[in-house]
Amino acid sequence: MSSNAQTVFPPSADFAAQANATAAMYERAEADPQEFWAEQARRLDWDTPFTQVLDWSNAPFASWFADGKLNVAVNCVDRHVTAGKGDRVAIHWVGEPIDDHRDITYSQLKDEVSRAANYLAGIGLQAGDRVAIYMPMVPEAIISMLACARLGLTHSVVFAGFSSAALRSRVDDAEAKVVITTDGQYRRGAPAPLKAQVDEALGSGADAAPSVEKVIVVRRTNHDPELPWVDGRDVWWEDTVGEASPEHQPEAFDAEHPLFLLYTSGTTGKPKGIVHTSGGYLTQASYTFHNVFDHKEGRDVFWCGADIGWVTGHSYLVYGPLSNGATEVIYEGTPNSPDEHRHFQVIEKYGVTTYYIAPTLIRTFMKWGREIPAAHDLSSLRLLGSVGEPINPEAWRWYHEVIGGGRCPIVDTWWQTETGGIMVSPLPGVTACKPGSAMRPLPGISANVVDDNGVPVADGEQGYLVLDQPWPGMLRGIWGDEQRFKDTYWSRFAEQGWYFAGDGARYDEDGALWVLGRVDDVMNVSGHRISTAEVESALVSHSAVAEAAVIGAADETTGQGIVAFVILMEGAADTGEELIKALRDQVAVDISPIAKPREINVVPELPKTRSGKIMRRLLKDVAEGRELGDTSTLVDPSVFEAIRARRG
Ligand code: WT7
Repeated sequence: MSSNAQTVFPPSADFAAQANATAAMYERAEADPQEFWAEQARRLDWDTPFTQVLDWSNAPFASWFADGKLNVAVNCVDRHVTAGKGDRVAIHWVGEPIDDHRDITYSQLKDEVSRAANYLAGIGLQAGDRVAIYMPMVPEAIISMLACARLGLTHSVVFAGFSSAALRSRVDDAEAKVVITTDGQYRRGAPAPLKAQVDEALGSGADAAPSVEKVIVVRRTNHDPELPWVDGRDVWWEDTVGEASPEHQPEAFDAEHPLFLLYTSGTTGKPKGIVHTSGGYLTQASYTFHNVFDHKEGRDVFWCGADIGWVTGHSYLVYGPLSNGATEVIYEGTPNSPDEHRHFQVIEKYGVTTYYIAPTLIRTFMKWGREIPAAHDLSSLRLLGSVGEPINPEAWRWYHEVIGGGRCPIVDTWWQTETGGIMVSPLPGVTACKPGSAMRPLPGISANVVDDNGVPVADGEQGYLVLDQPWPGMLRGIWGDEQRFKDTYWSRFAEQGWYFAGDGARYDEDGALWVLGRVDDVMNVSGHRISTAEVESALVSHSAVAEAAVIGAADETTGQGIVAFVILMEGAADTGEELIKALRDQVAVDISPIAKPREINVVPELPKTRSGKIMRRLLKDVAEGRELGDTSTLVDPSVFEAIRARRG
């Protein structure tokens, strides 16, 4: 793919003239990165101003603004009220049922967050305690996160699409004292139980989750008049938080106080609790929101389509927009509920100016057809964003033309759960964009593309993406596992002290950065990270399966699709469809329905090297219908005939 041959999209003069970001920021940041970041940190309100910026002496454990103190929730809520903006809508909440909506002003948000904080403090929680949040996209989810932040409690949001087994392992790993949930959640128009999954996760008797003292339940679907209840443990939000005082005096916490844990998939089966802290994280979330989304206070209406269960939801539904006093849309449901017009109706109704979604959704819109967006007035839009996976140039152009009416810049933002905020992206109004390229590290961020030895590769050549300088939003560790933190991110280029992102990339001749996807055993399905090992271990936990190999095969809509190859136990019957269904269900139960393989192949043998390593690369060739790559290291190259025969 020659990028030079492609059209470049320069910013319009009008956009450039009003943009928050300027080209000069790159030079300023490069000349004095620490001063640059200090300046960004001063966009926040500090109870105790910091005098130090970065301490990297204990690398890879960074500390930023360490002697400063602040309250993250005050920065996201109270300070806007104090500044006289209490009547501004913070959240236009849009429920999945069509007539269900609620506007929440900054003053109201302050009252709600204060009530929740008062209740949580009242039951004895103390700064540093962990709270698990397992909720659909209801306002109380965000209120809960902010209430934790206000008290210095470390929240761990678990995606409400994860199974009870996945919730339990996260609750146990973090030793969460409280779980906040809802009675149920809407799934394409119908209520589905959620509290029941919490009960299943937390168990009872000898099997009960040892750390959990309270389960707070928000009434959402009201679908079950006889909701199971554990007396003493379970309370309704409305009877507790709802009755608490809306006055709460916040305390300031150290910049390095842990704000949240967020579990993400790695190359082994066990998810990692990524640790983010307060001052540095909020600085980066706030700075990137202001500049990458060109946010104009009191004028823009921002909409990020991510779920709070992912880092995008943390940084660009909660901490980035709210710390900037933004007005945003939060939508509870799926894009086709009740029909494919839903997103465009919401854009039209609220006059959304800035729209941030994943390429998988753009490709889904493409499939639904351009007449759907064309039926709506989308002229309020002025900036579009993309996140989660590489955006293919065709989807970029469609997004630009059909959704953006040819007038909106697109910011293709590369980052990770671990980075806390956007790292590589065009600056709208500054950068001339190439469709498919995330373009350039943001001012203050430094990235390189290197070979196995850490030597920068020539422009145009593919290598590993590394971050060669610390940044304020960087993860501070993996919860409870220092060694894994070092091994996963810092051992590959230990000598140089660089962070290894796990992605392949290249710089082109014009210095534009192209991220090419994961180079490790992590799949990216619809912008969600799922490890091959996690799915393999779920498959093997089924009694019929002896061995499993899982790969991510290219998929037109979801980026990658999960394809599994399994060998059955001696004597286990291959019952065809029935077995496949049972295996897919097993994955849903162990992880989540989002991790269900698209295709499961029962095969007689897996391709292995002499040392017993499964050659996933070759299975990927098969799944993607390619000629086989080098098979010379295989013990038995003929296994592929059998595999191909089984796939038909
Ligand atoms: C992985 C991180 C960033 C929040 C959502 C996902 C891939 C993400 C891009 C992009 C190419 C991208 C990478 C990365 N990725 N954004 N704009 N272009 N690839 O967060 O679950 O931590 O996944 O998503 O492979 O490593 P995550």
